Amino acid sequence: MRKRILLGVISGLIAGAGLAGCTEQNGAQKLTAETPSSAAGSRAEVSTHWPQLTSGIAKDPAVEARIDALLAKMSTEEKVGQMIQVEIRTATPEDVRQYHIGSILNGGGAFPYDNKHASVADWVALADEYYKASMDTRDGGVAIPMIWGTDAVHGHNNVIGATLFPHNIALGAAHNPELMRKIGAATAAEVRATGIDWVFAPTLAVVRDDRWGRTYESYSEDPDLVRAYGGEMVEGMQGAAGSENLLQGKHVIATAKHFLADGGTLNGIDRGDAVISEEELVRLHAQGYFSAIESGVQTVMASFSSWNGEKMHGHKYLLTDVLKNRLGFDGFIVGDWAGHQFVNGCSNVSCPQSVNAGLDMFMAPDPSWKELYKNTLAQAKSGEISAERLDDAVRRILRVKIRAGLFEAGAPSSRAFAADESLIGAPEHRAIARQAVRESLVLLKNNDRLLPLARNQRVLVAGDGADNIGKQAGGWSITWQGTGNQNSDFPGATSVYGGIAEVVQAAGGTAELSVDGSFEQKPDVAIVVFGEDPYAEMQGDISNLQYKGAGDLALLNNLREQGIPVVSLFITGRPLWVNPHINASDAFAVIWQPGTEGAGVADVIFRNADGEVNHDFKGKLTFSWPNDAQPTVRNPGENEALAQFNFGYGLNYGSSVQVAALSEQSGLKVSDGEQALAVFNGRALDPWSFQVMDAANNLSVISSSVAKLSGISVQSVDRKVQEDSRRLQWNGEGNAVAGFFANSRTDLTSYLGKQGALVFDVKVDAAPSDAVSLGMNCGMDCGAEQSITELLKDAAPGEWKTVAVDLQCLADAGAKLDMVLSPFYVRTAGALDMTVHNIHIASKADADIHCG
Ligand code: BGC
Ligand code: BGC
Repeated sequence: MRKRILLGVISGLIAGAGLAGCTEQNGAQKLTAETPSSAAGSRAEVSTHWPQLTSGIAKDPAVEARIDALLAKMSTEEKVGQMIQVEIRTATPEDVRQYHIGSILNGGGAFPYDNKHASVADWVALADEYYKASMDTRDGGVAIPMIWGTDAVHGHNNVIGATLFPHNIALGAAHNPELMRKIGAATAAEVRATGIDWVFAPTLAVVRDDRWGRTYESYSEDPDLVRAYGGEMVEGMQGAAGSENLLQGKHVIATAKHFLADGGTLNGIDRGDAVISEEELVRLHAQGYFSAIESGVQTVMASFSSWNGEKMHGHKYLLTDVLKNRLGFDGFIVGDWAGHQFVNGCSNVSCPQSVNAGLDMFMAPDPSWKELYKNTLAQAKSGEISAERLDDAVRRILRVKIRAGLFEAGAPSSRAFAADESLIGAPEHRAIARQAVRESLVLLKNNDRLLPLARNQRVLVAGDGADNIGKQAGGWSITWQGTGNQNSDFPGATSVYGGIAEVVQAAGGTAELSVDGSFEQKPDVAIVVFGEDPYAEMQGDISNLQYKGAGDLALLNNLREQGIPVVSLFITGRPLWVNPHINASDAFAVIWQPGTEGAGVADVIFRNADGEVNHDFKGKLTFSWPNDAQPTVRNPGENEALAQFNFGYGLNYGSSVQVAALSEQSGLKVSDGEQALAVFNGRALDPWSFQVMDAANNLSVISSSVAKLSGISVQSVDRKVQEDSRRLQWNGEGNAVAGFFANSRTDLTSYLGKQGALVFDVKVDAAPSDAVSLGMNCGMDCGAEQSITELLKDAAPGEWKTVAVDLQCLADAGAKLDMVLSPFYVRTAGALDMTVHNIHIASKADADIHCG
């Protein structure tokens, strides 16, 4: 956990980089440090780009009166408790009782009683425990039912046996808003059965740079489609606004996430910065929220990301002035996984800035949540958080709880459909998922009309995705990243192979499963299922669009060389450059991450028993498919000429298109790693900027010669020429970080194998009083640190020395060298006075190579 938090804090530095005018200039600029607006200011005027909306659910005076009465009885302690959401792994029911906690969640891969195979009854039992604790008034106070939220982002995906729908990118390809309503309703029913009230879905991201590891959570790069889907999904989950069954029966509360422009971050960096105009923000990224609000969505989750350098968790203009006031959102805003900690001046355990900006409920999964509670309480009592803001936040939370009928519902186990196991993976839900699979497949190539296949053939089914439900389910499947699962973790599911075998065998053919493609009797046709392995947020970011599947390519070529027609089924969460594989296939279909109903694939690629088309391909790309692997953004109206298959492409059985051989030039430039790469040579070199996270968690991009911050001061000083070095002085008053950060990735892999090293000159004027780490960062939860404490202690005071740190050691310790965002930063909580000069990446460093 500790490593995660530190790397997280370091990653908070990324969003500050690359701000126009903030990169360091050559020559002295006598300015003080610029702190990008810590209290992201509220602007009185909301831009006219924003429409004026009203929620689909009208305010009810009776509900408001009920809230007034509750608020009048609640203590400040109880109010603050309502605003804190804790996690089942870090807070007990007793905690919920004692702190009057308003909400709990289970994060991805968190299960009742730490049991991955928890039964439906276990889920309900735990829900009961927390519910009862929230209703326990033995120490006085008001009984307010807690609300439990979960990430049911493609079905109730933390639960064994649940129906897992294709991920959103696949649903987009189906171009079927009505189907979203059905999927929403089916998901909600399964969630209800486990005693849970609230779902953190739908994701309304409009992804522009497909290197983002959450691209598959997005319906489309096209805002119109996201808008068409958002409202339908919300109504499916919550029930139609104005209808009798709104939030009743099998329905649950939905969340529109992540507000705003999570899919618009520069270079597709997870939790990064959307550097765009307000007009674009509205036109591209806000559209899904409009339909969600009009359908009455009751909660919105703030995004980890920033807009033009300002963290969304502290963005008063967007959270309050725009979302609540202009767009008429009267539900509550929940934070994302301790996301408040990245707001300037905040930490995991204190962030009045977020509440003041409009956040109503902290998502506080960290074990330190009690500190957050205490600090927030103190801030509410001191007036740092005004009584008015406090009441508004609690009012919104109570409004949603009352609308959802939680006060009357009783214990989760006593509610309709609770513990109804027949709803989990119910046949009618699976049928919807299978329909979604069928409609989402996109046919890129079908030369000589190889598809649809006759059933009664000898079929070889190869590839590591053929009989691998974990792989076909993708991220957010039982576990958080979707890794570590077996087919047995998905009871009731069907693999792609399973679906094929069923239709082929029933028709008298044979379906042979052979992952490596070997066979005894030559098949009539080979179906090869391969593609990306599961991943989720943070871990899924990539540096370019190349599909790295050399083994799969060899498999395809091998089959074709034996004269076997090859059908490729590509599992992926995003468009990737896969031209060599397409060339090596007679037919090539993108099946995305279909989820548990792999049989939907065979429904389409095989003819029916009478030899006719069974189901035609309907899917059309809602993301432009790249013509090379370069990390170029490709969207309608943006580099369209660089799409191999345009937005909207998708063949069907009526088309006789022959796809000719495609270019196999990846376009990636391979550096030979011979030339040194400068990071700092008197000034920060592009793409890096010099940044400091001070001891008070304030992030500054330093563009001045002198900057005095909390716990650290930095200064441009002369060694050989004027201001060619930076003096970094820590005073020991808290953890502070100084280093070079970028908003784009640099590939340093070519330096590996050439004795590559991170090299810099350092002069120590006051030896460290505490541990000092040198780090390299590649994004959220990605990077490596090495101790340089001894090295600095051993340095002769006041004398320059050259230090070289082995890149291989950093790579071994977790730095992904193809995705570097910060090649150099130094962190300590102690006192230290050191000066750095000439920081670069070299092959064969002229110094002893250090490996911490
Ligand atoms: C949780 C996820 C969460 C992630 C964020 C994981 O440990 O289980 O639900 O989204 O951390 O950092
Ligand atoms: C993710 C959210 C998710 C939350 C809870 C976060 O890390 O960004 O999408 O809802 O965790 O698991």
